[in-house]
Amino acid sequence: MFKSFLETSLIKRAIKKKFLKINLINLRDFAADRHRSIDDSPFGGGFGMVFRVDVMFKALKKLGNQKGRVILLTPRGKRFEQATAKRLSQEKTITLICGHYEGFDERIHHYLVDEQISIGDYVLTGGEIPACVLIDCIGRLVKGVVGKEGSIKEESFDINGRKLLEYPQYTRPEIFQPDHKTKWKVPKVLLSGDHQKIKEWRNRHTRKVWQRPVKY
Ligand code: ADE
Repeated sequence: MFKSFLETSLIKRAIKKKFLKINLINLRDFAADRHRSIDDSPFGGGFGMVFRVDVMFKALKKLGNQKGRVILLTPRGKRFEQATAKRLSQEKTITLICGHYEGFDERIHHYLVDEQISIGDYVLTGGEIPACVLIDCIGRLVKGVVGKEGSIKEESFDINGRKLLEYPQYTRPEIFQPDHKTKWKVPKVLLSGDHQKIKEWRNRHTRKVWQRPVKY
């Protein structure tokens, strides 16, 4: 799964150009037994399997001081948002831990990680998709990854550091006719060349996050 994600255009290019380096670690390599088991049934009973603290400890120990900030992906974490991505893009190294289990032994949460992040209030089968979300979102904020810095300077959720949604954009054709009777037009002001008016229009159409979805 990671392989196919890391082969996608922008991330692939960033890795090739050495703006990003991704190191995949298989936690099974740190299992203590022949069966390479990394989880076990919960003390006190109940369904599912729980990730073992000793295996996680060994994996992180191997990384030593190369691990940087250790982040556990879990629905119990703090909700990921653009500001989190911005903050983490300043880190030299981050370690993302993905589970594919009912959960982690609580001692992992308690002793081994710097922060816990959730990508939203829903439960996925594992932390791999959340990890890809973080790599994509944080990765594109790393200097050099997105070609023109201007394009990430002002975008939804971070307009002058404020949590706003970008104004609507239009391009050619000026008038689109899906059928003989209908015309879908571009707002006139955007074609006027009057930069002051355009700026005002854009400011008026910049929405707050609580105004989502944008209605017509
Ligand atoms: N693992 C399972 N569900 C998750 C979520 N919503 N966020 C982060 N990690 C998860």
